Amino acid sequence: MDQFRNQPRLPKFAVPKRYDISLKPDLCLCKFSGSVAIDVDILSDTRFLVLNAADLHVDDASVSFKHRSSSKIFQPSSIQACEENQIFVLEFAETLPTGSGTLSINFDGILNDKMKGFYRSTYEHNGEKKNMAVTQFEPVDARRCFPCWDEPAFKATFKITLDVPSELIALSNMPIIEEKVNGHLKTVTYQESPIMSTYLVAMVVGLFDYVEDHTVDGVKVRVYCQVGKANQGKFALHVAVKTLDLYKEYFACPYSLPKLDMIAIPDFAAGAMENYGLVTYRETALLYDDQHSAAANKQRVATVVAHELAHQWFGNLVTMEWWTHLWLNEGFATWVSYLATDSLFPEWKVWNQFLEESNHGLTLDGLAESHPIEVEINHASEVDEIFDAISYRKGASVIRMLQSYLGAECFQKSLASYIKRHSCSNAKTEDLWAALEEGSGEPVNKLMSSWTKQQGYPVVTVKVKDEKLVFEQSRFLLSGSCGEGQWIVPITLCCGSYDVRKNFLLQTKTESVDIKEFLGCSFRKWDGGNDKSCDWIKLNVDQTGFYRVKYDTDLAYKLRNAIEKDHLTATDRFGILDDAFALSMACQQSVTSLFTLISAYRKELDYTVLSNLISISYKLEKIAADAIPEALVNIKQFFINNFYFAAEKLGWDPKPGESHLDAMLRGEILTALALFGCESTIKEANRRYHAFLDDRSTPLLPPDIRKAAYVAVMQTVSTSNRSGYESLLRIYRETDLSQEKTRILSSLASCPDPNIILEVLNFLLSSEVRSQDAVFGLGVNWKARETAWTWLKAKWEEISKIFDSGFLIGRFVSATVSPFASYDKAKEVEEFFASRVKPGIARTLKQSIERVHINSRWVQSVQKEHDLSRVVQELGLDECILSRITE
Ligand code: BES
Ligand code: ZN
Repeated sequence: MDQFRNQPRLPKFAVPKRYDISLKPDLCLCKFSGSVAIDVDILSDTRFLVLNAADLHVDDASVSFKHRSSSKIFQPSSIQACEENQIFVLEFAETLPTGSGTLSINFDGILNDKMKGFYRSTYEHNGEKKNMAVTQFEPVDARRCFPCWDEPAFKATFKITLDVPSELIALSNMPIIEEKVNGHLKTVTYQESPIMSTYLVAMVVGLFDYVEDHTVDGVKVRVYCQVGKANQGKFALHVAVKTLDLYKEYFACPYSLPKLDMIAIPDFAAGAMENYGLVTYRETALLYDDQHSAAANKQRVATVVAHELAHQWFGNLVTMEWWTHLWLNEGFATWVSYLATDSLFPEWKVWNQFLEESNHGLTLDGLAESHPIEVEINHASEVDEIFDAISYRKGASVIRMLQSYLGAECFQKSLASYIKRHSCSNAKTEDLWAALEEGSGEPVNKLMSSWTKQQGYPVVTVKVKDEKLVFEQSRFLLSGSCGEGQWIVPITLCCGSYDVRKNFLLQTKTESVDIKEFLGCSFRKWDGGNDKSCDWIKLNVDQTGFYRVKYDTDLAYKLRNAIEKDHLTATDRFGILDDAFALSMACQQSVTSLFTLISAYRKELDYTVLSNLISISYKLEKIAADAIPEALVNIKQFFINNFYFAAEKLGWDPKPGESHLDAMLRGEILTALALFGCESTIKEANRRYHAFLDDRSTPLLPPDIRKAAYVAVMQTVSTSNRSGYESLLRIYRETDLSQEKTRILSSLASCPDPNIILEVLNFLLSSEVRSQDAVFGLGVNWKARETAWTWLKAKWEEISKIFDSGFLIGRFVSATVSPFASYDKAKEVEEFFASRVKPGIARTLKQSIERVHINSRWVQSVQKEHDLSRVVQELGLDECILSRITE
C-alpha cells in the first residue's frame, strides 16, 4: 500500500478499456448505489490493482479472467482506501495473470451538496422544492461517483445504465437505447460511448423541458432547462447548431457523437462543462430571455456555448495527456470561441474584446507568484487552482500570437492535421507544436516553449537613439522588480500609418536597427512641441502579441498625439492605455503622465477601449484614495468629465437599431458615472428605478442599464435609508431569472456604507443565495474593505466548509485581500492564513498578498508625485478639452 501513496499518477500495470456502470440515485435521501464492471488489460505481473475513489463506500470487489469457457475469479485479500490520495488498493494473494480481465465493484455514496462528483441541485416545480442529480467530474471528481482510473490519459468506452424514478428525464453522454419502466422506477440504458476520459462522463436526472434542432449533418441538438423556460433555450440552440457546423469545417472533422444535449443546472460551480455529448451550464451561461436579459448576457451565452463545443474536438476527441497540459484544452477553447462568435456575430467585434482576455492574463502573469502555462501537477488537489487566467487567457493569447505569426490558413490546416493525428487519443503541448511546425516550416516549438514553459512575459522597451531604433526586452513584473527570462518575441510595428508595417523576431535581449534602412523612411524626432505632425511608431500592432511596450518620452508623446487625432485603431488605443497603466502600477512611469494620457481618450466611443478605461479608473480611484485622499474629489470629477462625452452620445434610452456594443457600453458608462458619484446620473437612475418598481416591464429600465440603476440606488443607501436595498432584495426574491439575480448580487456590495455591506456579506452566505452565486457579491466598495476582511476572518470556518476545495473559495480570498494597500495588512493576512492555508488556495493566497505589496509600493510612489493633484485638476478644467467635448 505504502508504495502507492503520494504518487502523483496511478501505476500503469493495469489499464481500463471499458466501463459498464449502473447507478441508482435516490433523490429523496440524497444517496446512490452503484456497480461497475471494468474491462482491464493487465500489462505486467502484479498483485495489486490501484484505482481512484473518494467518499465512496466499496462493498466488494473481484477480478475475473475468462479462460476458454471457464472463468477464474480472484478475490482481493485486502481492500485498502487511502482517502488522502483518493485511491484504493486491491491486494491479491497471488499474482494476477497478464491479459484481459474484468474488475467488478459494488459501491455506494451520497449525492453531495458540493457541486462536484455526483451531487444534488435543487429547483422548484409547481411550488414544490425538488432535487435533481447532476455530475461534475472535471478535473478529478469522477472518482466520487464510481471507482475508476481517473486520469485523462486512461481513456475507455462507457456503457451507462441508470435506475431512476419513472417520471424523470435521465440524460447521459450518449442517446438512450432502452427505457424499461418497472412500477415507480425505470431502467434507462444508453448507447456505449466512444473512447473518452473519465472527467467527461456525465449524468443528469430531473424534470426538464427542451427545445430541439439539428445540424446539416443530422446531429440532434437539444437545450434542456427548467420546466417552463424552454423559450429561453432558443438562442443557445441556434448558436450551438451553427457552431457545430462551423467547427466541422474548421477542424476538418465531423462532431463525433450522434447527439448533443446542453442543459442548464441551477447549482453549478463553474460556468459550464464540456461533458462529451451532454454539456452542463449555469443558467446564466445558457438561457437568454428576450425581455429581461442584457446584451452582455447574450454575448456570454454565445461565447460559453462556442467554448464548450470547441472542447468536443479540442479536449474530448483529443485530450491532454496530463493536467500540465490543461491549457491546451482551455486556452485553445477560449481562443476558438472567439473565432466562432466572430463568425456568427461579426458586429460584436469580439476580437477587439479579446483584449480583455489578454489583459487578465497579463495582469496575473505580471505577478512573481504566477506560474508557467505548462505547470507541474503533483497532487489532485492542485488541479483546481490552475483553471485560472494563465491557462485560459494567457493560453488563448499565445495561441492568437502564434496564429497571427503563422497566418490563419496555415494555422488552421496544421490544427486539422493535429486533430486527425491524435483523435481518440491524448496529446501534449509538444504534439501541437510539432503539427504546426510541420505545417509552417517555422521553428514553432522553440518559439512557443519560451512562452509556455517559462512564466511571465517581457516588456519591450523601444527608444530612438542616433538614427536607430533600439529594442530591449526584460521580464515585466508589477512589483517593479527586475525579473529573469528571455522570450522569442514576434515584434510587429507600424510607423506613421498602417500601411508601413515591419515584423521581426526579437530573439536576444537587445537589438537595434537603422531607422532609415528598416523603415524605408526617415523618422522625425519631436522638436519639443511645435511640430505635432511627427510620425508615430506603434509596436505590437493590433495587440496580437503577449507583451507590453514601453516607449521613450518622445515616442509616447507622438502616440498620445495620434490618439487625439484619431489616427489609431481601437485595439492599438487599448494597448497604449493598458501598457501605460501597467507600467505606472509597476512604478516605472508616473501616474501623472498616465492621467495626461487618459485625457486623450475623452472622445473615445469604442466599447472595448472604454470598458478598459473604466476598470482602470476604478483602480486609480482606489490608489488615489489611499495615496492622496485630498485629491479624490478632483480625481472623481476628472473621470466623470472623461466619460461624459460617451454618456451624452449614448443617452439613457436605447436608440432604434443601435449596435450591440453601444447597448453594452451604455450600461458600463452609467455604472461608472454612478460609482464616481455623478449626481445627475444617480438622480435619473433613481427615477427610472422607481418606475421599474411600479412596473417591471417599464421601457424606462431596459436590462442593459439595470445594473447601472441598481448600483446608483445602492450609492444612496445607508443604515438610515434602507429602502433601496430592501426593494432590490424584493426583486431578487421575486425573479426566477438567474441573470437578474446575479445583476442584483453584483450591485449590492457597491454601497459605501460598511454596515450595509456587512448585511450584504451575511446575506451571501444565507440560504437565499445559492453557493454558486455568493462570489458575485464580493466586489465590496473600497470603503468597506476592512469590514469585509473582518467578516472573512469570522466566517472562515463556515466558508471553508461550504466551499471546501474547488475554485470558488479562492475568490473569497482574492476579493477580500487584494484591495488592501499596506505592508502591515499583508502581514496580518499572512498570519491569519498561516495555520489555515490548504493546497486549493495556496497559490491564490500568495498572489493576493503579492497584490497587496504591489498596491503598497504604488501608493508610496504616488505620494511622491507632487504634481499629480494639480495636473488632474488642470486636466479636469482644461477648457480646450471641455470645448472639444461639446464640439
Ligand atoms: N472545462 C471547463 C469547466 C471547468 C472549470 C471544470 C473549472 C473544472 C474546473 C469549461 O470548459 C470552462 O472552461 N468553462 C468556463 C466557461 C468558459 C466560457 C470560459 C467556466 O466555467 O468559467
Ligand atoms: Zn473550457
